[in-house]
Amino acid sequence: MNATHTEPIPNPLQSQAGFAVPAALEAEVNELVTHYPEKRSASLMVLHAIQEQFGWISQEAVEWTAKKLEVQPINVYELVTFYPMFRPKPMGKYQIKVCRTLSCALGGAYELHQHFCGKLGLDAHAHGPQTTKDGKFTVEFVECLASCGTAPVMMCNDAFYEGVSHKKADDIVRDCK
Ligand code: FES
Repeated sequence: MNATHTEPIPNPLQSQAGFAVPAALEAEVNELVTHYPEKRSASLMVLHAIQEQFGWISQEAVEWTAKKLEVQPINVYELVTFYPMFRPKPMGKYQIKVCRTLSCALGGAYELHQHFCGKLGLDAHAHGPQTTKDGKFTVEFVECLASCGTAPVMMCNDAFYEGVSHKKADDIVRDCK
């Protein structure tokens, strides 16, 4: 690879004002890199660590990671945009994930998702995660959460809910302070 040539990024990610990597995160990343024969092999682990710190991955985070791993920003960018577990924009304080795989789809997942979107002023038909303007909630569909017998199921951050009625959905939103 020609180290002086920089591959252009087609659609740079959202910018993060004041992006700065805390010393503890940098130390964690430095340590992670030692587990791999090549720095670039640590890419996914480093991105997970960054996302855990900031909640999402910005353009500045991509550039910082590329520099750290001695690759081009496009090499990091393509991972962030390929893997759905990486968040290329800020998420809400509360992340509501509604399972839409077969059992849950048959059990009312689409109606449940629509209910959340209607209640929170989001577009139920838009593609991907939708976040409220105040940054409090993100609503999205996810695939099977491994509780197919108790459809429809969902998560709100780390809390897991089964057999979620619209009334229960309202209670979940109400309890998000
Ligand atoms: S289909 Fe929803 S948990 Fe499996």
